[in-house]
Amino acid sequence: MAKPTLRTKLCDILGIEYPVVLAGMGGVSRHKLVAAVSEAGGLGIVGAATMGPDEMREEIRKIRELTDKPFGVDILLPTMGSIPQTPGTAMGGPAEDEEKEIPRNWRDMLPAPQREFAATLRRKFDLPDVEPEYPTPSGRRERPVFGPGFTRSQIDTILEEKVPVFASGLGNPAPYVEEFHAAGVKVIALVGNVKNARRVAEGGTDVVVAQGAEAGGHTGRVGTMALVPQVVDAVAPTPVLAAGGIGDGRGLAAALCLGAVGVWVGTAFLVSLEAAWDETLKQRILAASEEDTRVTRIYSGKPMRNINNPLIEAWEEGGVRTLPFPFQGAVIQEVTYAAQQAGRKELGMNPAGQISGMFDEQRPAKEILAEIVDQAAEIIQRLPADVPAVTS
Ligand SMILES: Cc1cc2nc3c(=O)[nH]c(=O)nc-3n(C[C@H](O)[C@H](O)[C@H](O)COP(=O)(O)O)c2cc1C
Repeated sequence: MAKPTLRTKLCDILGIEYPVVLAGMGGVSRHKLVAAVSEAGGLGIVGAATMGPDEMREEIRKIRELTDKPFGVDILLPTMGSIPQTPGTAMGGPAEDEEKEIPRNWRDMLPAPQREFAATLRRKFDLPDVEPEYPTPSGRRERPVFGPGFTRSQIDTILEEKVPVFASGLGNPAPYVEEFHAAGVKVIALVGNVKNARRVAEGGTDVVVAQGAEAGGHTGRVGTMALVPQVVDAVAPTPVLAAGGIGDGRGLAAALCLGAVGVWVGTAFLVSLEAAWDETLKQRILAASEEDTRVTRIYSGKPMRNINNPLIEAWEEGGVRTLPFPFQGAVIQEVTYAAQQAGRKELGMNPAGQISGMFDEQRPAKEILAEIVDQAAEIIQRLPADVPAVTS
C-alpha cells in the first residue's frame, strides 16, 4: 500500500512529514523513543524536565546518532511563585542555589499533620522505615532542583546544541521566545485552559498544545473535546495541537475536525517498545481500563492523572490537606521511597491517561505512528461517503 499523505500546516512549521508529536514525557520520552518517532516522520520530543545540562546534552547527542530528522526538548518553566525554597522535591536540585546552606533538618520543617499521615501510610502498607536519600548541597544524590538558575542552564543547553524545537510543559515561554527565534528554534507551549493559551500565544509561541483533562500526567480540568475548539478560536491564527486521550487515527481525525493542526500524543507512545519506562508499570497501563486512572495531588501537589492504586485511595480518603507543589512531593517521598525499596511498584507514581484502556500490547513506535496516520487518512477520505446527508 502506498504511504498516505497527511500534511497540515504543522508539517511545514516543524519540517516533519506527519502531524503527530510525541509528548515530552519525563522518564519516558528519551533518545530511543524520540528518535523512533522522528525517524518515522513525526516529531519526537525529549521529556527533559529534571535533566541537568550534562544529561540533556548526552540525550541530544544520542538522538543525533539515531536520526538526522528534527526533534524537540520539553522542560517545565517554573513561575516565580512555584520556585521551591526547599530542596528534595520531585523536580529538585539547586543550580544557582547550590551555594546556599540548606538546613539538615529541613524535612522537620514540613507540617506535622502531613508528615504524620505519611508515616501512618508507610506503616499501613507494611513498608520499611528507610531514610530517603535526599539531595544535599554537596549533592550525595544528584537531582536537579527547579529554579531560575536550573531553567537557564537547560535553555542554554538547548540553544548550544541547536535543538530545532523547544517545548514548555508548564509556564509561559514568552521571556525566552526572542532568543529561541533568533537561533531558529520553534517554540511549543502546553496549556490546559483558554486564559493560558492566550498568554502563551501573545508571548510569541509558535504552536499551542491544548491539553485536555483526559491526559496522563499533570492535567487540567477541561476535557479535550471542549478545550481544543475554544483554544483554536482564542489564539487564531496561531496553530494548535490537540492533546489528551488521542490514541489512534480516530483521535487525529477528530482533532483536525476541531480545528487543530495535529496531535501531541503521550500514553499511546508510553506503551511503545522504545519507551524508557519500567516494565511492571507499563504492564499495569496495558492491563488498565478507561476507568482505572485517577487525578491526584498526592505525588507532586499538582493534579496528576495516574493509574489508580491503594496509596492514592488511602491519601485521598484520609482527609489530610494536600500540600502545594513542591512540598507535597517532599512529604510523600517517605512512602514512595520506602515502596521503591520494598519492590512495591504498584504504590508508586504511574502517570497515564484515560486512553490507557485502548492498549493491550507493546508495539514499536513506528507502527503506532503509522497506524495513527493511516487510519486518520482513511477516515478523512471516506468521510463524505460515511455522512450521506452531506453527499446526497
Ligand atoms: C508518564 C507521563 C509523563 C509525563 N511527563 C511530562 C513532562 O515531563 N512534561 C510535560 O510537558 N508533559 C508531561 N506529560 C504530559 C504529556 O506531555 C501529554 O500532555 C499527555 O500525555 C497527553 O495526553 P495522553 O497521555 O492522553 O496522550 C507526561 C505524561 C505522562 C503519561
